Amino acid sequence: MDRVLILDFGGQYTQLIARRVRELRVYSEIHPFHMPLAEIQAFRPTALILSGSPASIYQPNAPKPERAILDLGLPILGICYGLCVLADFSGGEVSRATQREFGPADLLVDRAEDLFRGLAGDLKVWMSHGDKVDKLPATFQVLAHTHNSPYAAFRHKDRPFYGVQFHPEVVHTPQGKEILANFLFRIAGCEPTWDMKSFVAVSVERIREQVGDGKVICALSGGVDSSVAALLVHRAIGDRLTCVFVDNGLLRMNEAAQVVDTFGSHLGLNLVFVDASQRFLAKLAGVTDPEQKRKIIGAEFIAVFEEEARRLGKIDFLAQGTLYPDVIESVSVKGPSVTIKTHHNVGGLPEQMGFRLVEPLRELFKDEVREVGRELGLPDTILWRQPFPGPGLAVRILGEVTRERLDLLRKADVIVEEEIRKAGLYQEIWQAFAVLLPIRTVGVMGDERTYEHVIALRAVHSQDGMTADWVRLPYEVLARLSSRIANEVKGVNRVVYDVSSKPPSTIEWE
Ligand code: XMP
Repeated sequence: MDRVLILDFGGQYTQLIARRVRELRVYSEIHPFHMPLAEIQAFRPTALILSGSPASIYQPNAPKPERAILDLGLPILGICYGLCVLADFSGGEVSRATQREFGPADLLVDRAEDLFRGLAGDLKVWMSHGDKVDKLPATFQVLAHTHNSPYAAFRHKDRPFYGVQFHPEVVHTPQGKEILANFLFRIAGCEPTWDMKSFVAVSVERIREQVGDGKVICALSGGVDSSVAALLVHRAIGDRLTCVFVDNGLLRMNEAAQVVDTFGSHLGLNLVFVDASQRFLAKLAGVTDPEQKRKIIGAEFIAVFEEEARRLGKIDFLAQGTLYPDVIESVSVKGPSVTIKTHHNVGGLPEQMGFRLVEPLRELFKDEVREVGRELGLPDTILWRQPFPGPGLAVRILGEVTRERLDLLRKADVIVEEEIRKAGLYQEIWQAFAVLLPIRTVGVMGDERTYEHVIALRAVHSQDGMTADWVRLPYEVLARLSSRIANEVKGVNRVVYDVSSKPPSTIEWE
């Protein structure tokens, strides 16, 4: 199988490059730009791609890969900063551009061949750079230019080295995918063989090899990641996988029943259902501080999970739905440190539990995980479920969490989901939900004055939960939500809409 190695210089679009390459059905991985040569060779890439960067190549401590990458005999595509690296290594000159280019630009293709095969004329491309190549190395030739950049794309005359100043990986470069395809298939000779069917086959073999005749436990949350991880492990080792689903009493309406039905009855997983709602609610009684709520829920989850694991006897492995974005080392080019993103797995199960980890989704992006899920027969209701926080409705009930307040919020939550689905917005919105506020306000119903609860509605667009913007929901949708919640949820007389983005707010209210 062909593998493309992307060296990351801290560019904002690096993950997108990897995704586009994989969409073209060639496997790709991102590694830091300083990956040692021996490791690059051991990776056995078919081609290299050098990413963009916030840095400039002429800065004193500019991030640079080992120069010997040029001598590996591999095709190389440099994107933006990557182009500067190629120019710099080959004796070109790069300097700060007098006119920085950010946004759309017109690219004029001078040679509609290899990288630009089939792309003659004028292309819309996306630029995001402040540097430009002043002097092209003698061994290079121009492939395309823009008004501002005479060398917006070039190639080595004899070797398969290509540089583009613009970003073919973003949607604002409409023909970007064709350019990448030309690089992968025409120049590097890759075969488009990476797909989720082959991933499943390879992954099942790998899990069997890793687990041997051991036993695996998995904390199922009902979310897409842990569900797909569990199904994959199940496909590999069948009943030697036990899934534990803990009802912490903080789930949405009918959620526990749905999970048991889907995974136990339909998909035939070995499922242990633990109704621990009483325990969780007892521990949460009287608690109003958000951090304390989270700590109590986290600790209780671990306690319940440990008890169940012990009951099951000797277990060797813990399966987790860790995804690729959680394991990519994010490169910091501003300082010497390389930080590794931490991630909170289901309930934050501690390392000292002594399990070895099975993480079959470590190489996948979210959309790939969904494809694997579909391949394994996971129903759409779970495949396309919006993210739901581990501490559940507890972080959407401001103030004390009680059964009554949970019941009230659940009713509002169901209405939100129904109406957002009816409006055809469920899949395009990252999260839409209701929050129960810790105040009462005055209202009037019939001839009577009421003094009741307030529900806040929250709907956000987001790529990964790190930043978010509030959704401009159509007024009709807001109107229906408001009217249905006030009419159908007893105890609510007012509905408000949250128009805050993240930052400065967070997505959840606690
Ligand atoms: P915030 O509220 O921090 O949330 O903007 C970002 C995203 O993370 C989800 N979230 C959690 N997920 N355990 C989880 O598994 C948690 O403790 C947790 N807290 C927040 C939140 O729903 C949003 O998608």
